Amino acid sequence: MSAAGNLGIDAERLWDSIMETAQIGATAKGGICRLTLTDLDRAVRQWFVAACEALGCRVVVDDLGNIFARRPGRDESLPPIAIGSHLDTQPTGGKFDGVIGVLAGLEVLRSLHDAGYETQAPIEVINWSNEEGSRFAPAMLASGVFAGAFTRDYAYGRADREGKTFGEELQRIGFRGAEPCGAHPLSAFIELHIEQGPILEAEGKTIGIVTGVQGMRWYEATVTGAESHAGSTPMKLRRDALLGAARMVAAVQAVALAHAPDAVATVGLIESRPNSRNVIPGSVFFTIDLRHPDDAVVASMEAAMETALHGIADADGLDLALSRIWDSPAVHFDANCIAAVREAATALGCASGDIVSGAGHDAAYVSRVAPTAMVFVPCEKGLSHNELERAEKADVAAGANVVLRAVLALDQQLAERAARGA
Ligand code: GLV
Ligand code: MN
Ligand code: MN
Repeated sequence: MSAAGNLGIDAERLWDSIMETAQIGATAKGGICRLTLTDLDRAVRQWFVAACEALGCRVVVDDLGNIFARRPGRDESLPPIAIGSHLDTQPTGGKFDGVIGVLAGLEVLRSLHDAGYETQAPIEVINWSNEEGSRFAPAMLASGVFAGAFTRDYAYGRADREGKTFGEELQRIGFRGAEPCGAHPLSAFIELHIEQGPILEAEGKTIGIVTGVQGMRWYEATVTGAESHAGSTPMKLRRDALLGAARMVAAVQAVALAHAPDAVATVGLIESRPNSRNVIPGSVFFTIDLRHPDDAVVASMEAAMETALHGIADADGLDLALSRIWDSPAVHFDANCIAAVREAATALGCASGDIVSGAGHDAAYVSRVAPTAMVFVPCEKGLSHNELERAEKADVAAGANVVLRAVLALDQQLAERAARGA
């Protein structure tokens, strides 16, 4: 890989793009609130499309709002090698989660453009819609449709907590494209992301070679009791849905502890009704997130959680409606793509190590339909889904250079295959 071996990304330009787009939805604490399919999401999408078009890329949007920016290759009949992630954020998100994966892809295209480097396959940068799942559950919704895990209509019908649907909001922001989601074969997909955990930093590593993603399941629970007067209802006659839900939250934690050391479980969203200080809560809605690298353990956690929550409901005289709304099994990435990432990290002299992702990523679904791998870079104290999320400029640049090199190595494989007439 002679000419390709000398190519490198422009670290300052990449950093400037991260900081520039971080102004779209910037929060006072230095983070970003850019929920999917909001006006702010539209604004960052428009920024991204304009930046890609300025490079001469052809931009295609599919009917889930996924954006594909294409730099042509020598052989336009080859499916593109793609780089990407997501530009939506959590309500109190940081500047790096998702964003660096898309903007590193843009930076790779800019670097190839500046060098006049011709690839065998087209190279694409992808922005996936609704990775976070914060506004419309579940997470990774549009890459899930792309991979055939969900139907388009299922995605369109997902509603936020105000009752607005994904389909309506996609149409409203003007990013419902014509291409049917999934009708877009890829030769390979590489996603750069911050680790979102503490391992790389603790081990002094710059690059995580991501071998897979742990299994995760999401649930929604509604506990129903009886609203009544806070002053006149004796304690023993109450059916307090919030008290029951509180016991359930503690039970969810106990499930994770019983499956230590690798299990995690979280209740992240809770709504109590009528939410009035002198009314005993009659109804509580909450969400549950269970994760473990082994699907069998996730199943065991689910069984233990169901038993515990129904037991609490029965003991407290409450009704419980509990449903699993998402199952994302553990993922193992493609050996050839992992090897390309590993070789790139080694060639660039980066301290690196293998790692399994604790967070969900679009790459998890894309891996069902294209050879896929991920590159992690450290984030300070492992903090993520937090406005104070921080990554070092040099680490982000190293990650983008690993992506560039891995993509060019995969492209070289396609060129060699063509030369052999295979
Ligand atoms: C996605 O951000 C997830 O891991 O929940
Ligand atoms: Mn992310
Ligand atoms: Mn996230």
